[in-house]
Amino acid sequence: MQIIGDKRTMRETVMEHRRAGKTVGFVPTMGYFHQGHLSLMRAARRENDVVVVSIFVNPLQFGPREDLADYPRDLERDCRLAEAEGVDYIFNPVVDEIYPQPFLARVRVEGITEGLCGAFRPGHFEGVATVVAKLFHIIPAQRAYFGQKDAQQARVILKMVEDLDFDVEVRVCPTVREPDGLAMSSRNVYLDHEQRKRACLLYRALEKGRLLAEGGERDAAAVEEAMHEVLREEPGIEVEYLGAYDGLTLRPLRELRGEVLLAVAARLGKARLIDNIPLLLED
Ligand code: PAF
Repeated sequence: MQIIGDKRTMRETVMEHRRAGKTVGFVPTMGYFHQGHLSLMRAARRENDVVVVSIFVNPLQFGPREDLADYPRDLERDCRLAEAEGVDYIFNPVVDEIYPQPFLARVRVEGITEGLCGAFRPGHFEGVATVVAKLFHIIPAQRAYFGQKDAQQARVILKMVEDLDFDVEVRVCPTVREPDGLAMSSRNVYLDHEQRKRACLLYRALEKGRLLAEGGERDAAAVEEAMHEVLREEPGIEVEYLGAYDGLTLRPLRELRGEVLLAVAARLGKARLIDNIPLLLED
């Protein structure tokens, strides 16, 4: 496995493989790997000749009061884990390599970025879209892998690729969970012992919503109330949003039909956790 920090070398390396007729799979990450990241690497390994993983904690997607400085990092461990998954290249640039100053360009996807996390993290998806657009140029892979856990991010990337004609197939892979249902996230390290025990309620609330919806409940307000009830079982869970959303537009629903996303964001102390369950509901 080779570690590359320079964008020209990275791009030329990928282009060489493509000229030789190889398929390249790309997994963009901010590092501090967990099983969710590793599952993306495995999918990329299965489906491509060459696998590239980027590790870059992107300052542009953090708000001024967010956790950029504290974001967990462990490059050595990440490299060991990636190598064990058969990753061929790690792209690990410094901030100036990605954002030479002054850096004035931005990629903005409208509409689907306004609700859910977008309402609580202004500028976040602009930061994500901008860095992913740059990474797609630096690593011109045929396939790129994202996790369903960041459902809104995945929608934003899919729309950016569609609207701006990026020549890459975006694969969205299932959320990987701890045995008690908590979605894996690098930010789970922020949870203390008590918060960690309560954190699985997010998934339990979504599961309650799923069971009701799959059992025939079509009233979004009834499903949402049932999900809130689960989160009220324990103190210290500060809900940002919890509800049923249209799976494509991400707008809140009144009636559950077709592609539905049950989604939640909540703070437990310092940790801000998100989770979701996508559903396909027949009439
Ligand atoms: O999901 C992440 O880790 C990040 O948002 C991404 C896609 C690597 C962009 O910085």
